[in-house]
Amino acid sequence: MHRIGVVGAGYFGKLHASKYAESKSGKLVAVCDIDRDKAAACAGQYGSTPCTDYTELFDKVDAVSIVVPTNAHFDIARDFLRRGIHVLLEKPISSTLEEADELIRVAKGKGVVFQVGHLERYNPAVQSLAKVLHRPRFIESVRISPFKQRGTDINVVLDLMIHDIDLVLDIVKSPVAQIDAIGVPVLSDAEDIANARIRFADGCVATITASRVSWKTERTMRIFQPDAYIVLDLHASKLAVMRRVSGGTDGLLPELKQEEQLFQPVDNLKREIESFLACIKSGAEPLVTATDARRALEGALEISRQLQSWRETLKEAPPPIAAVR
Ligand SMILES: NC(=O)c1ccc[n+]([C@@H]2O[C@H](COP(=O)([O-])OP(=O)(O)OC[C@H]3O[C@@H](n4cnc5c(N)ncnc54)[C@H](O)[C@@H]3O)[C@@H](O)[C@H]2O)c1
Repeated sequence: MHRIGVVGAGYFGKLHASKYAESKSGKLVAVCDIDRDKAAACAGQYGSTPCTDYTELFDKVDAVSIVVPTNAHFDIARDFLRRGIHVLLEKPISSTLEEADELIRVAKGKGVVFQVGHLERYNPAVQSLAKVLHRPRFIESVRISPFKQRGTDINVVLDLMIHDIDLVLDIVKSPVAQIDAIGVPVLSDAEDIANARIRFADGCVATITASRVSWKTERTMRIFQPDAYIVLDLHASKLAVMRRVSGGTDGLLPELKQEEQLFQPVDNLKREIESFLACIKSGAEPLVTATDARRALEGALEISRQLQSWRETLKEAPPPIAAVR
């Protein structure tokens, strides 16, 4: 059985630890957090060993989940990969593309499993989507949720939108031709709401909105293609398709067929972790590779760059006319 460590015992690290503790394919042997109390509480709950320095895990584990703030992803992931330890690293893969490239290089050199936590790919509704996709032309994605203090060390693009950037890139499978983005800080120092329009080389356009300053929670994706429109509700794990089966041209009314699939509630994190453990056992490539994660990061960084330059423009903008009077 694989010996597993979890680095970072905050909100999401505790969830990773709980899934390993339930798993029959891995044994949670250690939990590390620079906060001694968090490490002790989490490790104690699952009968594993706490520590505050991740280097203590090098000889004790075969695989780790790294669930620390983004600015610490690179150093910690590189150190484990260099020692030939399999890594499940939370999203975003790293802070820069250079860091992502280095992690990919080291993982390849060591021949270990390197998976990144783009959790939505394990949602059964997302996994059924491929069967109904046919040349998507327009995608409208919305991910909004009420404000929480967690995650505000990074902007909403790297925090939330990156999930949808990854999904959209996986759906369209065409190179990105152009990105236009706007966004503003509202309750934190970083952008809390953003909108990006991505044009693809094959003509498809995706608009993606992400907000962490909303009254309600919504995670939906609407996909429009020549014969159908599709609604993917990621929160409810539901997939609805309205398809034209005949007509719709030469003055004939379209004959439509509606299909709806509601998936049983499943634990996406548990599926992601079981998949990671299965890849370690079989040597198979993970569903979400580090290269996929790098591609999502590339989009997220370009959107973030545009938000930053928009912020500079707003600073330099003349005051409103009412204020001048
Ligand atoms: N995939 C998802 O849906 C999802 C959801 C939430 C968070 N995340 C990701 O998980 C990561 C952590 O997020 P969170 O919400 O749990 O944050 P958090 O602040 O609740 O927890 C982070 C923990 O890491 C610890 N830590 C920091 N540096 C460390 C180090 N060098 N060694 C050991 N521990 C260290 C902190 O003490 C803290 O306990 C982030 O990368 C975030 O993007 C992903």
